[in-house]
Amino acid sequence: MNLKHLVSAADLNRADAIELLDTTAEMASVSEREVKKLPTLRGKTVVNLFYEDSTRTRVSFEVAEKRLSADVVNVSAKGSSVSKGESLKDTVQTLAAISADIVVMRHGSSGAAHTLANSDWFDGSVINAGDGTHEHPTQALLDAYTLRSRLFGTASGKGLDGVNVAIVGDIAHSRVARSNLILLKNLGARVHLIAPPTLLPKALGQQAVSSFHNFDHAIEENDFDAVMMLRVQSERMHAAFFPSEAEYSKLWGLNRERLERMKPGTLVMHPGPMNRGLEIDSFCADSPNSTVLDQVRNGVSARMAVLYHLVGNERNA
Ligand code: CP
Repeated sequence: MNLKHLVSAADLNRADAIELLDTTAEMASVSEREVKKLPTLRGKTVVNLFYEDSTRTRVSFEVAEKRLSADVVNVSAKGSSVSKGESLKDTVQTLAAISADIVVMRHGSSGAAHTLANSDWFDGSVINAGDGTHEHPTQALLDAYTLRSRLFGTASGKGLDGVNVAIVGDIAHSRVARSNLILLKNLGARVHLIAPPTLLPKALGQQAVSSFHNFDHAIEENDFDAVMMLRVQSERMHAAFFPSEAEYSKLWGLNRERLERMKPGTLVMHPGPMNRGLEIDSFCADSPNSTVLDQVRNGVSARMAVLYHLVGNERNA
C-alpha cells in the first residue's frame, strides 16, 4: 500500500481498504494481549492537533499511538497559541521544528487536512481526524471493520459486497456520511440515504443506491443489514432545517417500533456522540443490535492499522 497521508476515504482503493481491515483485525488481537504493545512507532513523534472538540477520536488515536510505542503530544485549540490567533501554517511549522513525524488533525474547516498534506509546511504524514463537514476517513474504516466483523466474523480478505446499509439523518453536515459513502461503496456495499429534504444534498443522493425522505417507506422497501444513525449537528445549523426536535424524532429517529419492523439482527450503528431521544432512542442505542461501543473499541485497532501502514510506507520509501 502506497500511503503517505490519509485525508479522504477516496485515498484508499478497494485492495488498500481490505488490507487495512485485515490489519485492523491483527491490531485487535494485540489489544487482547496482556501487554498491548508493538514497537512500530518507537522513536516517532505523533502530534494530535485538535481544533474541534472530540472524545472518541482523540482518545482512540492517543491509545493507538501509545500501543504502537510512539511519543505522543496532544495540542488542542483551547490551551495552545491557536486561541491567541496563531495560524494553521505557523502552528504546523512549530510542530515541524520540534521534529513531529505524523500530525493527526481535526479542524472545523472542510479541506484543512488536504491543505496541510499538500503544503510545504510539514514533511511528515497527515491523518484527517475530521475536517468540517467534509470527511472522517478513520471513522469510515472503523465502521466498515465493525460491519465486517459483526456480519462475517474473522474472515480476512473480504469486502462488504451486497451488504445493505442505510445512513439516516443529518447527512448534509456529516463528514461521517461522506467518508462512509465512499468507503462502503468501494467495498461493495449498497448504501441507502434517508433524511429530510433539507438535510440530503442532491449530489450525495445520486451516489447512493436509493435515497428516501420517508424513513418508514425506506424500511418497507428494503431489508437493511445495518442502519447508521447520524448525530443532528445543531452546532453547524445556522438556519431551521426541520420544524422541531419532536417532529424530527417522530419522522427520522430510530425507535423500538421502527427497529422491530426491520429484519431480526439489523445492526444499529452510531458514530457518537449520540443525542438520545432525538435521532435514536435508548432502547435502540442499548439493544443487543447496537454496535456503538464496538465502534469505539474498533476505533483503536483501525487507527493502529492506519498508523502501521503510514510508517511502513515511509520505511519502504
Ligand atoms: N465519532 C466521533 O468522531 O466522535 P468524537 O467527536 O467524540 O471524536
